[in-house]
Amino acid sequence: MCQCCTEKKDIYLPQLATVQEVSQMNVTEKYLRLSMDDGQFDYVPGQFVEVSIAGVGEAPITISSSPTQTNGFELVVRKIGNVTNAIHELKPGDKLGIRGPLGKGIYPAEEAKDKDVVFICGGLGMAPQRSFIKYVLDNRQDYGQVAILQGTKEYDQRLFPSEIEAWEKLDGVQVLETIDEPDERWKGNVGVVTTLVPQIKSDLKSATVLVCGPPVMYKFVLMALEEYDVPHDSIFVNLERKMKCGVGKCGHCQINNVYVCIDGPVFRYSDLASLPEAI
Ligand SMILES: Cc1cc2nc3c(=O)[nH]c(=O)nc-3n(C[C@H](O)[C@H](O)[C@H](O)COP(=O)(O)OP(=O)(O)OC[C@H]3O[C@@H](n4cnc5c(N)ncnc54)[C@H](O)[C@@H]3O)c2cc1C
Ligand code: FES
Repeated sequence: MCQCCTEKKDIYLPQLATVQEVSQMNVTEKYLRLSMDDGQFDYVPGQFVEVSIAGVGEAPITISSSPTQTNGFELVVRKIGNVTNAIHELKPGDKLGIRGPLGKGIYPAEEAKDKDVVFICGGLGMAPQRSFIKYVLDNRQDYGQVAILQGTKEYDQRLFPSEIEAWEKLDGVQVLETIDEPDERWKGNVGVVTTLVPQIKSDLKSATVLVCGPPVMYKFVLMALEEYDVPHDSIFVNLERKMKCGVGKCGHCQINNVYVCIDGPVFRYSDLASLPEAI
């Protein structure tokens, strides 16, 4: 066996990637399409990468594209501090470091087959959910009715509005959108995302439900789903914790015996029953 086959891949060593496309989505969020310089990148919906900028640092960012897409992979990055500010400065052709894909990304692609699938997204939560939304829509024959709920604070913060409009036109896809604090441009539902739950046409008792949004949203969404007797093992939540290594070594993301970086970040809600502090 040659030496390269016996060498273990260094889990802390970023691989070089190139920015292929960048666009400003709104005041705080930027969209980036990247490709790995060695061409190797296989992932499943729900996984994330550690993005590193030389001389600045690393930040975990969830992959927002679907593995059914072949021209690289996509990220949505909110400008919040040192690393994300530096990511916002990147231009097409620039190089950056990528570790990953990381996490189990246990989005239930197999288990949800033939069932209705309901996505409940709050704000930036649309970015991770979009990976599995696109995966399901690209494998439409394998799934039942699809419901996509999106709640956004203000009109200008809506993510992927033209994609959402296109999804709405697809057969068997129900799109429900709401804005908490709208202005005169918005003619749709007003209020938080839970106000949309009663409008879902899918049979919630047998559907697979995926929830992703800001921490405050989970409690209220889970309470709303309780009213419809959605089994806890059919609900999947995406947990975000501060991370450093991303590979189960440093303990930064640990909740009791669970490491969010390697055991998640997507968890079956019933598996969190013994971890009340997780949500
Ligand atoms: C698994 C995972 C997936 C993520 N996916 C995305 C994504 O798709 N898009 C995206 O924009 N962001 C995502 N994040 C959050 C992103 O990693 C942080 O915003 C980023 O690390 C901040 O780094 P910074 O150097 O820019 O900010 P810093 O200078 O480190 O921090 C600026 C401020 O943000 C707070 N902060 C830092 N990290 C986090 C965090 N993880 N959660 C909450 N607050 C934090 C700090 O306390 C501080 O107040 C994800 C985080 C995790 C753990
Ligand atoms: S981030 Fe280091 S153990 Fe999870």
